[in-house]
Parts: sequence; structure tokens; C-alpha cells
Amino acid sequence: MSEIRVESLVKRYGDTTALDGVSLAFPEGSFTALLGPSGCGKTTMLRLIAGFEAPSTGSVYFGDALVADPNRQLPPEARNVGVVFQSYALWPHMDVTENVAYPLRARRVAAADIPARVAAVLDIVGLGGFGKRRIDELSGGQRQRVALARCLVAEARIILFDEPLANLDMHLRSAMVDAFREIHRRTGATIVYVTHDQAEALALADRVAVMSKGKLLQAASPREIYRSPADAAVAGFVGRGSLVSGNAVDHAGETATIDIAGHRLAARSNRERAGAVKVLLRPEALRIATEGLPATVLDSVYRGPVHEVRLTLEPGQHLLIDSAEALMAGQQVHVAVSDAWVVPGA
Ligand SMILES: Nc1ncnc2c1ncn2[C@@H]1O[C@H](COP(=O)(O)OP(=O)(O)OP(=O)(O)O)[C@@H](O)[C@H]1O
Ligand SMILES: [Mg+2]
Repeated sequence: MSEIRVESLVKRYGDTTALDGVSLAFPEGSFTALLGPSGCGKTTMLRLIAGFEAPSTGSVYFGDALVADPNRQLPPEARNVGVVFQSYALWPHMDVTENVAYPLRARRVAAADIPARVAAVLDIVGLGGFGKRRIDELSGGQRQRVALARCLVAEARIILFDEPLANLDMHLRSAMVDAFREIHRRTGATIVYVTHDQAEALALADRVAVMSKGKLLQAASPREIYRSPADAAVAGFVGRGSLVSGNAVDHAGETATIDIAGHRLAARSNRERAGAVKVLLRPEALRIATEGLPATVLDSVYRGPVHEVRLTLEPGQHLLIDSAEALMAGQQVHVAVSDAWVVPGA
């Protein structure tokens, strides 16, 4: 079984609690991005799944099989998990084919079967025809692909990636994002992909798990994480947007009426609550209009096709919108809101 389940997982290093009671299931064949700021426990989670570390308390299951708890750990080589870390140790003196074939030779796979398997994975990562190149004759992105191919050739049903694109430039990163999607489609493996790049997480994964300080904040589809973050930390970490203070005055079904700076608007909300709330407003749900939230332009920065404009609603409350036109600081405007979300924990 290639479902992974961690239950109440805790990992302490001396006084540091790297994982603080995380329970999460990674369904068979799913692609989960583990997202969170530096030091939140992402790598620790992968190391516990791979078997390089033992839990302090809690357990790790693959399907129904217990693979780790504080008293018992299946060794890494018995877990059949593929791992690609940010620093990919390739052998510079070997050519691409020899590097990729290495795990098969180590497992004593029949020599006659090796060339076809190596050729197949080089094809998946877009390096068909590069077999005879030495590692030091490759670009950074090509080396990263060799590391991927070397992981894939073992045909593990569980593959863990730890920031595999962290040291590649923007252009290569987007090309590699396509390679990862293709790998998932072709292998059907259960993939856990660590990143602290939220755009990469949303683009790649079918599920995003957001962590902070050793705890899991939310695990949901990219769309849900973006549209309906579970708390202010997730809202702040994923996507652009503004958290604005308001007052809930009415609630009907999943919609609340919120008063912000004397103006009323409808917001999605998953709980009935009156009084002070924080509302998440994404830039694409906002536009300058003849009526709406009254605001004053603070500044305007050109960012590619649009101007990113910061507005002041009332002292201390800011709003970010995208505008086709540059706006003048001090200008009085109104902002029409087409979507808003009452952040539950905030
Ligand atoms: N071997 C170790 N000994 C002591 N503390 C450790 C060890 N490994 C990790 N930690 C600590 O545990 C916490 C979580 O570390 P982890 O490497 O899992 O973070 P991360 O989310 O992967 O961060 P980054 O995005 O920077 O890679 C950090 O505070 C880190 O300093
Ligand atoms: Mg890490």
C-alpha cells in the first residue's frame, strides 16, 4: 500500500520540538505539497516518513502496516521510498547512464534489464540522448533531472521531494514543474513535495498541507487553501491579499454581511458569528468602481501587466488591488468587492 498516514507525530531534538503532534493522511497516488516557513518541520516530516529519523511519540503507517513508532522502526532500505533532496549527490566521474543505473546495480537487477529502464526514465525527465554525458558537462537543471531519474528508476511507490527546485533559476523552475506533473501522471506514485514557494505548491499539488512551528494548520485542495484559508497564518502565507477588520452584522447560510468602514458587503463564512471578524480580500476580487468601500490611494507600483495599488480604508487598514491604470497617491476611490472570506480563526 502506498497510502501514508502519520498519527500524532512528535519529533524533539533536545529542547526543539520540530514536529508537534501532526496527524495527516497522504492518500495513495496523491500529490501533496508540504508548505510552510523555514524551520516549521517540513524536512523533519520527510525524514520520519523515509525512516532516517525515529518519532519521539506518534506513528507512521504505510497503508495498514506500522512502519515507525518510538519503539519500532522499519529501516529506510526496507520502506521502498524514493527521496530527492535539494542537494542531489551525483557522481561527477560517471556519465548520466551510470548515475541513473546505480540504484539498479546496487539492488542486483539483471544487467540485461537495466538499459531499457534507464532509457525510459531519462525519457520521462526529458534527457533522452544525454546518457553518455558526464555530470560536469550538464547545466544545473539537467543535473537536477538526472537526480530525479535516479530516484524514479527504482520505481518506488512513495516519492519524497525536499525543495528539489530551490537552487534553480525561475525559468528552469517552471520547466521542471511540468516535469514533476508528468512524473506523477506516469508513475501514479504517492508524492510528498516540500517547498516554501506557495505558487509552486498551488500549481503542482492536488493537496496542500500548510505547516507552522511544527503544527499542521490546514490540509486541503489548492483552491480551498487559497479561497478559504483556515486561519490568518495560512491566509498570510498563501497568495496575495489583505486581511481587513470588520463587523459581522448578519448571517444567512454560508454568507455573512460584514460592515467594513461603514460599508456593508457579503462574505463567505463557515460559521455564524457576530461582532469583530477578519475578512480576506484577494486582489482579483476587487476593482475600482463608482460605489463600494471608500478608500484613499496610498501608493501604486507597476508590476508587469498591472499596477499593484495599496489603499487605505481607515487608519491602519490597508487593501491591495490590481489596476490597469496607475492611480495617484491621495486619490479618493470606491472599491467593489466580488468575493470575500471571513477567516475562521482570526
Ligand atoms: N538534527 C537536528 N538537531 C537539532 N535540531 C534540529 C535538527 N533537525 C532539525 N532541527 C530543528 O527542527 C526544526 C525543524 O527543522 P526542519 O529542518 O524540519 O525545518 P524545515 O521546515 O525543513 O525548514 P527549511 O524550509 O528551512 O528547510 C528547526 O527548528 C530545526 O532547527
Ligand atoms: Mg527543510
